[in-house]
Amino acid sequence: MRHQVVIIGAGPSGLLLGQLLTRAGIDNVILDRVSREYILGRVRAGVLEEGTVSLLSQAGAGERVMSEGLPHDGFDLAYDGRDHRIDLFELTGGKRVMVYGQTEVTRDLMDARDDGGAKTIHEAEDVQPHDFSGLSPYVTYCKDGVTHRIDCDFIAGCDGFHGASRKAVPGNAIALFEKVYPFGWLGILADVPPVSHELIYANHPRGFALCSMRSATRSRYYIQCPLDQKPEDWSDDRFWDELRRRLPPSHAEALITAPSFEKSIAPLRSFVAEPMRFGRMFLVGDAAHIVPPTGAKGLNLAASDVHYLSEGLRGYYHEGSAAGIDGYSQQALARVWKAVRFSWWMTTMLHRFPDTGAFDQKIQEAELDYLTHSRAASTALAENYVGLPF
Ligand code: APR
Ligand code: PHB
Repeated sequence: MRHQVVIIGAGPSGLLLGQLLTRAGIDNVILDRVSREYILGRVRAGVLEEGTVSLLSQAGAGERVMSEGLPHDGFDLAYDGRDHRIDLFELTGGKRVMVYGQTEVTRDLMDARDDGGAKTIHEAEDVQPHDFSGLSPYVTYCKDGVTHRIDCDFIAGCDGFHGASRKAVPGNAIALFEKVYPFGWLGILADVPPVSHELIYANHPRGFALCSMRSATRSRYYIQCPLDQKPEDWSDDRFWDELRRRLPPSHAEALITAPSFEKSIAPLRSFVAEPMRFGRMFLVGDAAHIVPPTGAKGLNLAASDVHYLSEGLRGYYHEGSAAGIDGYSQQALARVWKAVRFSWWMTTMLHRFPDTGAFDQKIQEAELDYLTHSRAASTALAENYVGLPF
């Protein structure tokens, strides 16, 4: 078997890249270790930058996000018993974000791929990239006990943080940068109207809390929790009580509760692998970088990587120019590091660390006070939150 591009991973990165390539007439196949149903069962973040929404439209998967997504013009920062609105729209001269679950993004991309007739192979075991430092790379995988080989021009490693692509790179050819945070996020989904029509990011001496949503009738709430705890340690009542305690009284009183139907704990990590190109293999999305969810940047960074790479491959095949693929790593990393910085900064400002004492809490509150009362500081926050240009 031969394809121009083999994409490893059918998450948002692989699916979006596949769609943009198919639409540019570049033939590709996607391999994933798990089933489509398993991928659609994952619950992840839900804030899309305008650039991400426009890429989804270019990919032929933008219809539902435009009709069902919730445009948000601002969000609240809550601390010291009060909340303060960050007016994204006004501060950025007319930009907003779209609240739309990543599960739905994935579903839309899968449907668009089906419509275009491009091939995806699920439940492919032992996927392995080979010979990407030379001119004739190939990928092997095992399916139903049979080993297959796909020859190609390029390999796109879109297989997430635990994938095989990055691991196939020799250790002396890659630099890894990592910061692991000493807490996690306990998240729940419940069919209740959101406590507020916009997101609330709360700093509280008991720990961070976030009120988000999936629709007018479905809420997504998170609280910071210690890493040694398990979802089973948290009954719904315990979760709702703790969330209420971390919100300003006006929101705590308005909170509507119901049994949750999803509850999980996610660790927080910042991670970057450099470079993002190794000969004829590219790393894309979570395979190359992870950000803590506090800035809502994970999926949006994956989308900007895909933009740079799909443009590079289009230039290679249609214009005979390697400039785009040659510049991919540098261009993508420049944007990645800014989002890594932003996500780290939001995380540091809003969470309680094991060594956060009364002094550090006061410093966080002073920073939040400055941020919410200085136009210059709010503008910097808003500019990053809606997404830096790409
Ligand atoms: N072989 C084949 N497929 C693999 C392998 C492997 N060895 N390892 C992982 N995969 C698949 C996973 O099953 C998954 O479907 O690669 C896909 C990677 O998807 P994601 O982890 O969602 O990564 P990405 O597409 O880059 O997504 C970026 O989505 O996951 C969030 O936080 C992330 O928001 C960010 C965005
Ligand atoms: C979510 O809705 O899941 C969400 C929103 C904003 C974040 C993180 C997660 O910063």
